[in-house]
Amino acid sequence: TDFQTILTETDGRVAVITLNRPKALNALNTELMGEVVGAVRAFDADPGIGAIVITGSEKAFAAGADIKEMQEKDFADVVTEQFFVAWDELTRARTPIIAAVSGYALGGGCELAMLCDIIIAGENARFGQPEINLGVIPGIGGSQRLTRAVGKAKAMDLILTGRQMKVDEAEKLGLVSRVVPTEEVVSTAREVAATIASKSFIASSYGKEAVNRAFESSLTEGVRAERSLFYSLFATADQTEGMSAFAEKREPNFLHR
Ligand code: HXC
Repeated sequence: TDFQTILTETDGRVAVITLNRPKALNALNTELMGEVVGAVRAFDADPGIGAIVITGSEKAFAAGADIKEMQEKDFADVVTEQFFVAWDELTRARTPIIAAVSGYALGGGCELAMLCDIIIAGENARFGQPEINLGVIPGIGGSQRLTRAVGKAKAMDLILTGRQMKVDEAEKLGLVSRVVPTEEVVSTAREVAATIASKSFIASSYGKEAVNRAFESSLTEGVRAERSLFYSLFATADQTEGMSAFAEKREPNFLHR
């Protein structure tokens, strides 16, 4: 395909999107945002795809929004353009998305990782929200998602000082799902994605939706939502197949969707 700032590839039911602006440490400009969002939208609509991996390079997952592009903008520009609002579309994907993070995940890079459902990080990963050093604050959901992920104490510390956090701290805080040697980040993410993609798509997408409800609603409402998703899965052929396979001591053969 004719992308300029990303590479895309599929391997069975797994799609891999690689951010590819190496000279700018994968800084997230408008073009890259459009390409990532477009690729995710297309993979999400593809019944042959059951999980998506988003990754960068070994040095940088993404060093943030493109400062050189942002530098020229004023208040009227960012308001009228709805600058970076398109990233919100990632939250509407039903397909589980895994961020495979090596090196810098700063500013918008950290926010992009947090827009994903699972973060697999390498030992060299560095997370941070350094926008304060530029006279601004996170603008792709970071002040909200980081706070929900790690709590007020750490979110205030990171967002107000702009410091970088090493992977041990990020893991201890529960920001990342797994830490692996840097050279194994992408292969591990692909394995996790392949595992997820082998399940019933309806069940994995409902599982994702149910967990996300925990961030967006009260416990009572979340449990109610879970129950209705859970009950509705009993209308699927994949539930029949999954439970029959267990009873017959064989591997399930899910329809996916
Ligand atoms: C544009 C960037 C960039 C960025 C790096 N580059 N980060 N360009 N936007 N966010 C470019 C550099 O200008 C340089 O290009 C090249 O990438 C290599 O970077 P160096 O700084 O030479 O590398 P290094 O010394 O290894 O330092 C790495 C780094 C540093 C610590 C990650 O680059 C850095 O601090 N970057 C900015 C991080 C940041 O502040 N991110 C938050 C952005 S604000 P040239 O051409 O000069 O060689 C944000 C807001 C989100 O994300 C909300 C928006 C709505």
